This record gives sequence, structure tokens and C-alpha cells, in this order.
Amino acid sequence: MQKITPELKDEERLFFEQALEFALQQIAGNLPVFKERFPAPASHDLIYPAVPNTDWTASFWTGMVWLAYEWTGEGKYLEAAERQLNSFRQRVVERISVDTHDLGFLYSLSAVAAYRVNGNPAAREMALEAAGLLAERYFPEAGIIQAWGDLNDPEQRGRMIIDCLLNLPLLYWAAEETGDSRYSAMARRHALQSARYLIRPDHTSYHTYYMDPETGKPLYGNTHQGYADDSCWSRGQAWGIYGFTLSYVYTGDPAFLDASRQLADYFLAKRPADGIVYWDLIFTDGDGQEKDSSAAAIAVCGLLELSAQLPTDDPGASGYREAAVEMLAALAEGYTTKDQPHSNGILKHGVYNKPRGWGIDECTLWGDYFYCEALMRVLGEWQRYW
Ligand code: GLY
Repeated sequence: MQKITPELKDEERLFFEQALEFALQQIAGNLPVFKERFPAPASHDLIYPAVPNTDWTASFWTGMVWLAYEWTGEGKYLEAAERQLNSFRQRVVERISVDTHDLGFLYSLSAVAAYRVNGNPAAREMALEAAGLLAERYFPEAGIIQAWGDLNDPEQRGRMIIDCLLNLPLLYWAAEETGDSRYSAMARRHALQSARYLIRPDHTSYHTYYMDPETGKPLYGNTHQGYADDSCWSRGQAWGIYGFTLSYVYTGDPAFLDASRQLADYFLAKRPADGIVYWDLIFTDGDGQEKDSSAAAIAVCGLLELSAQLPTDDPGASGYREAAVEMLAALAEGYTTKDQPHSNGILKHGVYNKPRGWGIDECTLWGDYFYCEALMRVLGEWQRYW
């Protein structure tokens, strides 16, 4: 297991332990509510409604329950996480809403986590089934995995998105488990294509990019959730920081570490006064826009992993870690629902999809998950589910 604990002073440790205690209280309170159904992607008035397991986000709830189990060792969390696996098994076996690259998010935090934490063999099988479906979305000429929808949908065909970098660990894991290097070859090529086409020369990122799946020709980049095609969607940049580092972890290719650093440096340079970014990095204090706490939480996890991968004499090793701990402290200080007793979420002030008017200034399920992951990372030795 890799040691990624930043050196915390006693009072910082206590502060983060108290923050995790609050998160655990929210998770424990949600256990009886979200059993067969899952929290929606974003809250409404800071309350998550219960929805079926058909969206891209269900596993963030299961992942939080695994984290709670790992932190406390309490059987109620183990039982809840194992029970939720039934829903993920049904989803992959019955092919319910599987036309998506988000199989990576969905099965890394549910089934792969179950296998890593508890050696559950049925979870391993289910995760491998999901990896097989994800691999079917790969276009060999373009070297990319299509993000959304049917592979023949003209609006989505050949489109990759930066978020997919967090879906690749399912393929790298499947390669390690089965010895079938086709999975890792696809993941690596997709990550290389992402570095080449999604990162712009100024180290901002496109949210999405279209490739011609027949010829492999790069076509054009645009946005789906950002402010404009040529702006930089904050959460996309955060997915890139974390996702490229994860590709480095699995492949050892320094190109991925460079990509992650480029995105990290730009992201950090765009932090407003309190350290938590707005939903698009084009915005800053005084623009009257919403923050996206979830982008900050993802970036914290990515920066902690990035700093752990750098040699100790690289200034980034301490620099990225310090920035991450500062951001996490800012989240714990001013961005939780501690002052909103009616809420069943953890991290407020997130934005799901501003252009479409979804989940604006709300809790987001992935924001809650990555905040908990970040707290686990700073407080102890934690083995990635990714
Ligand atoms: N992966 C979808 C999102 O970040 O909203």
C-alpha cells in the first residue's frame, strides 16, 4: 500500500478528523434511506431524492459507504455496500443504461472496491463484465472510447470527453486481473489521445472532442457543461488532473504526469480568494457566478496523488500537496452542510450542469464522494478503488 499521508500538525489532523466525523454522520443517516435506490446526482434544496440505479452517479454513494466501512470497520457499512452490489449486478447483467463510458465510475467504486476491500469474487466478475462493455466503446482508428450514447448516434459518434480519464482505471484493472493487455492498450491510447487533443496549448482543456472513428482524423473540440467551447470547465480540468495521474500510475508513462501538472498549474492559478474555484475557470470573484465545490474536491484527490507520484526532491511533491491540503481545509471550513441540518448531503455549493440548469449551488453526489476520499487520503493510508 502506498503512503500518501501529508504530514499534518496535531490540530490539522483533529480538524480533518472532525470533518470526516461529520461526513460519516451524514452517510450513517442515509443508510436506511438509500438501500434499493440511490441518491440522485444532485440534491434539490440540499436534499437528495432517491432514484433508481440508472444514472452515471449511483456508485458514488456505494463508494462513500466503502470508505465509511474502511474508516470505521463497522459491519453496518459492509452490509450496506455488499447489498448495493445486487443493483450493480442487475444493471450490468440486464444491460440497464450501459450505453456509456461511465461504466468506469460505476463499477470502480462499487464492484472493484468490493473486490479490493473484501476480495469478493462475484464483484470481480461483475466488474470484468462491465470492463468488457466499456471496451466495446473503443474505436481503434481514432484510439478513443466514445463517451455517451449509442455508438451509431450521429450526435455522439466519435466523441471523447475529459471525464473519461476516471473511467480508464476499470480497463487498467481488468488488464491486471485477466492478463489481457488489450484493455490497458485501449486505456493508454485513449489517455494519449486525450492529452493530445483535449489539452490546449495554454494548458486549459476542452470538455469534449470529436474524432472521425473511421479515419481517426481529429475533428474539433467543444463543451457540454462549460461556459463556452473555448472556456475551461472547472470540473473537466479537475478530472484531467486526477485522471492523467491515474494513467501514469498504471503505465509509468511520464507524458501523463506532465499532462496532469499542466492542468494542475492552470487550475491552481485560477483559484479565487478562498481557494475554491467557480464552475468555469473563466470566472473569478465579483463575476456573480456559482462555485463548484465538487471540482475542488476532485482536484484535491488528484493533487494528492500527483504529489505522491513525484520524486521527493521535485518542488511539486510538496507544492501540490500543500495546495491540496489548503483547498480541503477551505472545503471543510466553509462548504459543508454542517449549518444546514435539514440536508442529507455533505458538500454544498456544487454545480452539476449550469448550461442546462441542473443542480446549481447544490450538493453533488460525486462532490460528496471525492471530499470523503480526500479526507481519507490526508488522514491515513488508503488504497485506491480506481
Ligand atoms: N462526468 C459528468 C460530470 O462531471 O458532470
